[in-house]
Amino acid sequence: MVASGSHPPGAGAGAGAGGASSGRRTGPCEPVFDPPPERIVLATANAGKHAELVALLGGHVDVIARPPEIGEVIEDAGTLVGNARLKARAIMSATGEVALADDTGLEVDALDGRPGVDSSSFGGVDHDDARNIDRLLRELRDVPGPERTARFRTVLVLVAPDGRELVTEGVVEGTIAIGRSGVDGFGYDPVFVPDEGDGRTFADMTRAQKSAISHRGRALRALVVALGR
Ligand code: IMP
Repeated sequence: MVASGSHPPGAGAGAGAGGASSGRRTGPCEPVFDPPPERIVLATANAGKHAELVALLGGHVDVIARPPEIGEVIEDAGTLVGNARLKARAIMSATGEVALADDTGLEVDALDGRPGVDSSSFGGVDHDDARNIDRLLRELRDVPGPERTARFRTVLVLVAPDGRELVTEGVVEGTIAIGRSGVDGFGYDPVFVPDEGDGRTFADMTRAQKSAISHRGRALRALVVALGR
């Protein structure tokens, strides 16, 4: 089942479809996790993502951090939904619990959608935010402001040991700034200016301000709705 926090009416809900920034759910309305899980283990080891996920999910379900002894999962599926599924299944298998994983891509129009599913290694070293941003700004050096459009896309996959699966997606549209601004957030936040904001980057915003309009916030709210919480 797929629920969406991004798509315009009539759009497909698979990871990879485009869409304006809005919060809606597509697909069948009956809950697939019936009854909904009491506890969810998070697959992320990223402190910034963990904090965002706990802030949004914590009031609805017991959220458990990824056990540190679980090794890294190789993300080689080639799609956001495929990678998120790989991570969720690995954590579910290791813990025997319902597991939630996310995968996020930054899609830059002037770069034909890159870095997309390769966003974490764009700068050449996996998870090196500074190098990723350096390469992004370098590649966009000659691209004028109005053409620096981009979007973050997050796909969430929730899997249960009995085989149930729920997929949601969230998108936020914006532009890539000329330079960095702000100290909060993580990843590409210092250079992403959401269309729905006031010109500040995500890194200039508080976590709550970011989550209210972010790709991950939208995907999570779609998940909570789909769980009937
Ligand atoms: P992944 O989902 O951890 O694979 O993230 C892919 C890349 O996108 C990494 O470089 C992350 O730092 C970055 N990223 C993921 N979510 C966000 C976000 O909310 N803001 C900025 N960068 C993000």
